[in-house]
Amino acid sequence: MPLRTIYILAILLSVTGIMASTFIPDTDRASSIRTSTALRVASIKKDPVRRDSVTSVKAFANVYNVLMSPRCMNCHPSGDIPLQGDDNHLHTMGPQRGTDGKGIYAMKCANCHQPTNTPGLHTPPGNPDWHLPPATMRMVFQGRTAHQLAKQLVDPRQNGNKNMEKLLEHADDGLVLAGWNPGEGRTLPPMSHAEFKKAWTTWLKTGAYAPKP
Ligand code: HEC
Ligand code: HEC
Repeated sequence: MPLRTIYILAILLSVTGIMASTFIPDTDRASSIRTSTALRVASIKKDPVRRDSVTSVKAFANVYNVLMSPRCMNCHPSGDIPLQGDDNHLHTMGPQRGTDGKGIYAMKCANCHQPTNTPGLHTPPGNPDWHLPPATMRMVFQGRTAHQLAKQLVDPRQNGNKNMEKLLEHADDGLVLAGWNPGEGRTLPPMSHAEFKKAWTTWLKTGAYAPKP
């Protein structure tokens, strides 16, 4: 390998190292607040985390209400088939997650789910990237308690390797925004996207504490 390549690789490796280390759950604080998922976020110097477990847990109650709403939970099922409707029933014709979350064989999500919503009732909602989380990182919301979900969301081994910055950004992810543009006849999440983003940001920036089990 040319020296320059080795040099660039070394920089990349140390950057990933720093990113990974920003999100190590702080287990040895467990004595003071047993159920908290306290996080080390020392590398965010400009905009530090101000720990406040009361504010954090309160904000998470709002976050949880959105995550468990049908527009979000239907793509975060406990099984390998997406859900439909406000009653979270199994998707008709049972399209499977597949390894990449995009369906299998003739039942690829994108065969029916177009880049934009199809007009009319009971038609597929649309998004250019419509799919489930992959089989190796299923990001299940269905059936999780608030305590379990809060811990899962900030665990890099379960959240798709997201650090604080990536998690903050995810509030504006295309599939998250899709929840507020769900197509005709579908109910909206229980608060506006702006309110959700505020709750999400507050929860994370006050220490991402988990409610008591
Ligand atoms: C054969 C066509 C078809 C395929 C393939 C398909 N879907 Fe659907 N999907 C639909 C239709 C039609 C609806 C709307 C049903 C309704 O509203 O009654 C729907 C609705 C949904 C909903 C409910 C949306 C909401 O807000 O409640 C989700 C979630 C969903 N599909 C996910 C997927 C995923 C993920 C895949 C791939 C793994 C997939 N679908 C594959 C046709 C399909
Ligand atoms: C069409 C399916 C789909 C819908 C609808 C959807 N998501 Fe997701 N969600 C995904 C996929 C796929 C990923 C994984 C992508 C990634 O990690 O960037 C994901 C990842 C996430 C994550 C990161 C997981 C973690 O553990 O940190 C959060 C948070 C999230 N979604 C929240 C929501 C919210 C809130 C809504 C509703 C407003 C929603 N999602 C609606 C498919 C969906």
